[in-house]
Amino acid sequence: MCGIVGYVGRRPCRDLLIAGLEKLEYRGYDSAGISLLADGHIDTVRAVGNLSNLRTAVAAAQNGQPREGAVAVATGDGGARIGLAHTRWATHGRVTEENAHPHGDCGDQIHIVLNGIVENHSELHAELTAEGHGFTSETDAEIVAHLIERHYDGDLTEAVRLAFGDLRGHYAFVAMHADHPDVLVGARKECPLIVGIGTEEAFLASAIPAFLSETRSVLQVETDEIVTVDAEGASITDPSGTGIAREVEEVTWDEDAAEKAGYPTFMMKEIHEQPEAVAETIADRLPTLDGVDLSEVDIDEDFARSVSRIVIVACGTSYHAGLVGRYAIELWTRIPIEMDIASEYRYRDPVVSEKDLVIGITQSGETADTLAAMRLAKERGAKVMAITNVMGSQATRDADTVLYTRAGLEIGVAATKTFTAQVAAMYLIGLWLAQVRGTFPIEDVRRIIAELKRMPSMIEQTIESVDDRVRAIARAQADQRFFLYLGRNIGLPVCLEGALKLREISYIPTDAYAAGEMKHGPIALLDESTPVVCVATESPVLEKVLSNVAEVRARGADVVAIATEGSTVVEDAADHTIYIPRTDWVLQPLLAILPLQLLAYYIARRNGLNVDQPRNLAKTVTVE
Ligand code: G6P
Repeated sequence: MCGIVGYVGRRPCRDLLIAGLEKLEYRGYDSAGISLLADGHIDTVRAVGNLSNLRTAVAAAQNGQPREGAVAVATGDGGARIGLAHTRWATHGRVTEENAHPHGDCGDQIHIVLNGIVENHSELHAELTAEGHGFTSETDAEIVAHLIERHYDGDLTEAVRLAFGDLRGHYAFVAMHADHPDVLVGARKECPLIVGIGTEEAFLASAIPAFLSETRSVLQVETDEIVTVDAEGASITDPSGTGIAREVEEVTWDEDAAEKAGYPTFMMKEIHEQPEAVAETIADRLPTLDGVDLSEVDIDEDFARSVSRIVIVACGTSYHAGLVGRYAIELWTRIPIEMDIASEYRYRDPVVSEKDLVIGITQSGETADTLAAMRLAKERGAKVMAITNVMGSQATRDADTVLYTRAGLEIGVAATKTFTAQVAAMYLIGLWLAQVRGTFPIEDVRRIIAELKRMPSMIEQTIESVDDRVRAIARAQADQRFFLYLGRNIGLPVCLEGALKLREISYIPTDAYAAGEMKHGPIALLDESTPVVCVATESPVLEKVLSNVAEVRARGADVVAIATEGSTVVEDAADHTIYIPRTDWVLQPLLAILPLQLLAYYIARRNGLNVDQPRNLAKTVTVE
């Protein structure tokens, strides 16, 4: 996820801004940049790679080399006292210096930095181009500088307010203007933006660590608000321009807590970042209810129509996301789908045809087995697509085409937000193929898209609403020696993933089984002390699942069921029921996994374990 730091005040700010970016490095980034304003002139330095590259580029510019004017203004006479800086995690456009922020308008008078996604960027790009604006990057962010330029008539706050009205998506941005050397203006739609109030100075950043060493007084900017910041403080308005009063708060976190946004662990922070991860992943790919826009993915429609089989290869959690995709894509497109664990596929001499679409799912884009499986499929003539979270990773270079998840950097070893983002990406592929092949009626497409668009808020609501109940179950069950997970159809991969989460972070043995297979072996494991976690959400197989639940309870086991709100039959059948909101049954995995992630988390924490770094596990497995 990108990071924003802005400063306005009495101190020279170049080094303050770069120090602020350093505090945001944990969020992950692939390029960085800084713009400084002094003597009515804005200078920018950007660099691909880490912040030491930016420092080197700043030093080179300061020595009067590559750019006119350059950052020399920042050092002359004490330097610039207003500026913007940014770390970019690429989503639109490759990792290049041109695509790094800040971005400017046509006259280089207005500079902006942005986090998030502008959903209507292609529409706005076309409009602005027709009006004569020229673009220098491939990003959606640059649109915002030109929109502010479009509306600017001497008042920067007003121009930002009007530009905000033109935008759709979820984002936070900060702007400055060469004619206003004492003011920064920001706007927030969902993505975080926070003001740090110092003595005769203020910061405007995407996260508190960016300025925590300078001030602990903060002003929260809420969604749909515009904020104008100067050395004396900040004023906030709503999108109609009406002022909003907001109290300054004092932050008590230390730096470690601040990095985790106040959560005790990265894993918990990442669980709570799932609404944003899914929102960013679906954002501009679902511009209307009428269909999916995957124009960024390089697969021509003729090939999509002629695909005779899809093979999905992956490892670990990514494999489970693929399994969810298999059920959904097969149902919607009627294309046969084969799933394989990448380390099996690569060594089993698979049969591959030119009409195969092979999808490699890997959040890191660097897992050796998945890369090898993808390469093998490509060598044998298949079309290979990567689904990954990391731009520029090896998978993106090896595959014929890429669909990015946009979950931001995941630090916890146990994957959470990358899983839900991958599942969302699988739904996008399924809908797109169904649309191209005409296998799904338009009213169903519209209904599913409408449900997917509601998902970020439903995920947020579910995480809040299940928390107490899951915590109580975790307290009661934390000492158990074994957990069995049972599910059918789309509930099965949720169980496999829930069981993996518990196993990897709590070290408690678990098994996950297709519920119909239970009687062929695992039933022997059950006794009165065994907790059985069951995904019993509404679906065409719910009755079957409930008959399995009855078999389990007949052996005295303690059944924890995940059920759809209002589904009282499950409550009658299980010992403990955790309800999740109702949605289309095929999309339920995006919600059903949340209580299982939390259950694993609370059990592991109760047992005093380090959930961010479980023993013997690594975030990325790059060796063969
Ligand atoms: C490791 C990680 C898992 C991850 C798996 C696949 O085992 O600990 O969280 O699911 O690798 O990683 P990938 O980057 O390919 O998705």
